[in-house]
Order: sequence, then structure tokens, then C-alpha cells
Amino acid sequence: MKLTLWQTKNRGNLNPIWFLLTFCMLLLFYRGAINSRIPLYISNTATANTLATIAIQMPDLRFLDIGAGIASVLIPLAKARPDAHFTGIENAPATWLIGRLRTGGLTNCDWRWGDLWATDFRHHNVVYAFLSPAPMAALWEKIQREMPSGSVFISNSFAVPNIAPNKIIEVDDVRQTRLYCYQL
Ligand SMILES: C[S@@+](CC[C@H](N)C(=O)[O-])C[C@H]1O[C@@H](n2cnc3c(N)ncnc32)[C@H](O)[C@@H]1O
Repeated sequence: MKLTLWQTKNRGNLNPIWFLLTFCMLLLFYRGAINSRIPLYISNTATANTLATIAIQMPDLRFLDIGAGIASVLIPLAKARPDAHFTGIENAPATWLIGRLRTGGLTNCDWRWGDLWATDFRHHNVVYAFLSPAPMAALWEKIQREMPSGSVFISNSFAVPNIAPNKIIEVDDVRQTRLYCYQL
């Protein structure tokens, strides 16, 4: 019997190629969920606006978004602070590409392909993360090793276990987003 793309020999069963294609599509957008237990979800506009109000006050701002998605945070911030420098690091191919296209016109925004664990935090005075509970303890170790004294780590929704934040900012949005702020 002829094997079509749709069917295996048993009529009605999906050809395994579809499982492979689905897996590849998931990998393009959700690589982080598969290999780091960090899924893709996007910071909302209210959160980006709240971050912009914080960023507006900071002198010599060098802001890094680790796992930057499609640049939902970086774009409004980079527009609000043309004098400051913004970096986004992303490792899922499709989201990286979308972010690349969206940040193309922003001269103060450095959009990078890469792994957040291989990224040096030393040159940034604000690091922003919207990840998951899974990496927070290990991330805190890296932050303490690398972030300069006086700099700030902001985590959307996921607190660092057993470390009291200096401040919790409550965003006025439907999901009642909390931004956990840690000063180094
Ligand atoms: C919850 S999303 C947050 C996106 C963006 N920061 C925002 O707030 O809109 C987390 C992002 O981290 C990315 N990610 C996961 N593991 C990563 C890693 N090891 N290195 C770089 N990016 C990673 C995922 O692909 C995903 O886009």
C-alpha cells in the first residue's frame, strides 16, 4: 500500500512524521521548556509599563533580560530610555527571530542568540527574569557571583527561594503580577 504523509499502513493512524514535525515546531518556540523547564509566556503591557517607570529613574542603566522571548519588555523600555543600553538573550529559534525583527530599529538594544547560563551578568546593573520556579536557586548563585554591588535583580512572578526581596512591586493587572526586586 502507498504510504502517504497523512497515513501509515493502518488507515486512520497518523504518520509519525507529524509527531516529528510537531516536535520540531515546539522546539522552535518552546526550546526553553524542553531543556530548561522554562516555558514561553510573555510579560504583559502593564508589567512592561511598571518596569519602564522603574527604569526611567535609574542613571547609567544597563538592562539585561535573560530569556527575552519576543522582546515584549525590551522594546518599550528601550523606547522610554534612548540614553540607556538594553540587552536581550534568547535561545528558542523562532522567538529569537521574532525578537530580532522587532528590535532591528532600536540602536540601544542588543538582541542576542544564546544561553542565559553562559551570559556574563557583570556588565549589567539591572537583570530582569521571567522564567519559572525551577532555575531560581541556581540563578541566584550566578547573580551573586556576577552582578556588581548596588545592582538590581528583578524576577517576574518567581521569588528566589529562602531569600527575602528588598521590595515587591505589585502590578495592577489581571494576573496580579508581582515583581520581586533584589538589590545586590
Ligand atoms: C517566560 S518567557 C519570558 C519572555 C520575556 N522575558 C518576557 O518577559 O516577555 C522565558 C523565555 O526564556 C527563554 N529561555 C529559556 N531557557 C533559556 C536559556 N537557557 N537561555 C536563554 N533563553 C532561555 C524561553 O525561550 C522563553 O522565551
